[in-house]
Amino acid sequence: MKTLVINGVSHQVEAPDDMPLLWVLRDILGMTGTKYGCGIAQCGACTVHLGDEAVRACQTTMDMIDSQPITTIEGAAANSIGAKVQAAWLEKEVVQCGYCQSGQIMSAIALLSSNPKPSDAEIDDAMAGNICRCGTYVRIREAIHAAASA
Ligand code: FES
Ligand code: FES
Repeated sequence: MKTLVINGVSHQVEAPDDMPLLWVLRDILGMTGTKYGCGIAQCGACTVHLGDEAVRACQTTMDMIDSQPITTIEGAAANSIGAKVQAAWLEKEVVQCGYCQSGQIMSAIALLSSNPKPSDAEIDDAMAGNICRCGTYVRIREAIHAAASA
């Protein structure tokens, strides 16, 4: 049994050490906002925050988590940067099918938390691990700039 603090709430979780956090979130806790895409750290759909760091939940196993708080898309708007990012996503109508977008938003929040005014090149670099099959990259960049200016 392990205690995970997710979006500010403590959860007692019974799961094997090698179970990926993505499985814990979706299958044990029913938090399905975080998506399964590739399962091999290549698409970014499963991005969450472990402490202040954006990580791939499909490759973050239970034994890699100590006391660091976890933030998922369900809790992303709880801080001011997350709220600005989500508002900018709506303003710029970023979403197409939506499947990749919770991961995109979590990566964008992590970027703006460490770099409040990123350049286009810095955005492209930080977001390179988040794949969007619908090709929303231009709107994602616009929304990150909008959130940075908000
Ligand atoms: S599902 Fe984790 S990176 Fe693709
Ligand atoms: S919005 Fe469809 S995959 Fe990104």
